[in-house]
Amino acid sequence: MQNRRKKARRMKLLRRIFLVGLPIVVVGSMGYFSLKQLLGASESTASSQFYNNPSYQEEASEDDDNNSIPGGKTTVDTGDLEEEITNNDNVTLDTTPESITVIVNKELRLPSDYIPSDLLVPDVEYSITYYDEKKLMRKEAGEALKKLFDGAEENGYILCGVSAYRSYDRQYQIFTNNVKTQGMEHTTKYSAIPGYSEHQTGLAIDISTKSVNYRLDASFGETPEYEWLKTNAHLYGFIIRYPDDKTAMTGYSFEPWHIRYVGKALAKYLYENNMCLEEYYKFTPSEDYSQAISYDNLEDYGINPDDVKVPTRIPTKKPTPTPSLTPTPTEEPTDTPEPTPTPTKKPAKPTKEPTQTPEPTEEVTVTPEITPTDTVTVTPTGEVVTPTEEPGTDGGTEIIP
Ligand code: DAL
Ligand code: ZN
Repeated sequence: MQNRRKKARRMKLLRRIFLVGLPIVVVGSMGYFSLKQLLGASESTASSQFYNNPSYQEEASEDDDNNSIPGGKTTVDTGDLEEEITNNDNVTLDTTPESITVIVNKELRLPSDYIPSDLLVPDVEYSITYYDEKKLMRKEAGEALKKLFDGAEENGYILCGVSAYRSYDRQYQIFTNNVKTQGMEHTTKYSAIPGYSEHQTGLAIDISTKSVNYRLDASFGETPEYEWLKTNAHLYGFIIRYPDDKTAMTGYSFEPWHIRYVGKALAKYLYENNMCLEEYYKFTPSEDYSQAISYDNLEDYGINPDDVKVPTRIPTKKPTPTPSLTPTPTEEPTDTPEPTPTPTKKPAKPTKEPTQTPEPTEEVTVTPEITPTDTVTVTPTGEVVTPTEEPGTDGGTEIIP
């Protein structure tokens, strides 16, 4: 009797468990499977979009090949798709200032009022920490620059931005200053006449590295950073714009530090075919291409000859107190004395013993540190130079390229 009651109770309990549990199991598994399906579907949607795109596959495999580069493996973002360039048979000269593939050189000028509309400060290291217009680049070029610098860093090379965008006016200032301090012949090897500089496009930047004190000179071309740059810049859409073996075509001396964004497709084509932009566009320079400008035709290039005149030498010795306001001493004081200037004090004598690191007493300053300064310096030859770039790129004795 008791056994039968126990059995009945167990059956009742089992039925309850079954009735409550079954729907939970059914609903739970339905939820699990639909969730799994949903996740799976979104994964496969993304990957099929990515890999079913033939041009992506092409880029991806090319980059795989290019991954074996000096210094190790690099990760190149292949997100932006471009059509491959296979030849330059039907290419026409691109002189549209906004175009990524525009050519600007000693004979192809930009309008003086051209300012790119999408300038920004790329998210990369610069040799200066404060804001300056010269940090700007066009958006696409700036984003590519970040990828380039990141790619270099992955391989142990630290690149640093020095000078990118320059307005027409700034290039005017740089060029005329270079002519004043370096002479015309040397200047035209490295410095563009305003309106003829790629820096005005916002697509070019001068870069360097710490081991050469961020200098823009031949020393950068000797660094491992440059070695890496030379063989990898094109993977990010950049070219070495003024290579050693193309000076007759570009009109400029070798500038290992000056890179120009042209987009991945063109950069790859130029790199693989060892061409500069002039060759790609089949641009034939005129005979006097390299030395087109002279002191005699400055005005033809919109330059005021007065702006390249070397200022009169300033005495390099210690300044003497200004005597001009002191009246000529008369023997007797007059009744109605002229208003006398405040008695001139003797020049203050140094009150302290020279410290261990004395202040420079000569006007010649060569400052290797990257410290912003607005001081006017006098070069060893006595020329007055107002710095227009940070020390390390000018210092008054070097050209600003
Ligand atoms: N250094 C290059 C040629 C420029 O001045 O634009
Ligand atoms: Zn440059």
